[in-house]
Amino acid sequence: MRKLLAPSVLAGDWWEIGRQVEACIKGGADLLHFDVMDGRFVPNITAGPEILASISRRVSVPIDAHLMIEEPDRFIPVFVEAGARWISVHIENVPHIHRTLSLIKELGAKAGVAINPGTSLSALEEIVRYADFVLLMSVNPGFSGQRFIERSLDRIAELKTLRDRINPECLIEVDGGIKEENVVSVVRAGADVIVVGSGIFSADDVEAKTRRFKELISSAVAV
Ligand code: DX5
Ligand code: ZN
Repeated sequence: MRKLLAPSVLAGDWWEIGRQVEACIKGGADLLHFDVMDGRFVPNITAGPEILASISRRVSVPIDAHLMIEEPDRFIPVFVEAGARWISVHIENVPHIHRTLSLIKELGAKAGVAINPGTSLSALEEIVRYADFVLLMSVNPGFSGQRFIERSLDRIAELKTLRDRINPECLIEVDGGIKEENVVSVVRAGADVIVVGSGIFSADDVEAKTRRFKELISSAVAV
């Protein structure tokens, strides 16, 4: 299965964001990961659908909206309208996760379920059959630039076993603290989609850094 690199654009510099998005696309980004935070579900606030729309109007790479917000169902249609092609919601704050994933799919987007580091993977047992992807958090959501929680490597492998058993089509996306030093282990543990925020956008040369991550991901797969 081809591995996808998803730079997390909100780790970029707002002043430079258009130029940085173009650079990571030139460097080979497969998806653009777009974090949406409301200051309630997570202790930070980011951007909404208008900003997503202004990016999606200019790029052909699919946008993957990671909704870290309360009552995501209210906003899913507007994010799809804005151009999000992948949408994930957190299992921790969605009471009717099956309904929410169905809504995302009905609107024509890929439906993902995100899971925090402190939530048992057994919470996914029932829903993984309905998900196009699982977004496994390897930091507590809220901020770019946090340290990768090492236990996540075991969790990726455990999730892979669960996924292979129940829904082999479902992709495993991993998000948080992924750097050049650990991306190979993340891929070898079983990640299909690799989100990288500060690891790419803190570089002076975003295009070269994106290319470097793509090479590391290919080298991990080749073994
Ligand atoms: C964290 C976000 C991540 C973050 C990744 O809440 O979901 O997508 O931007 O940034 P890094 O790679 O710097 O941890
Ligand atoms: Zn994210």
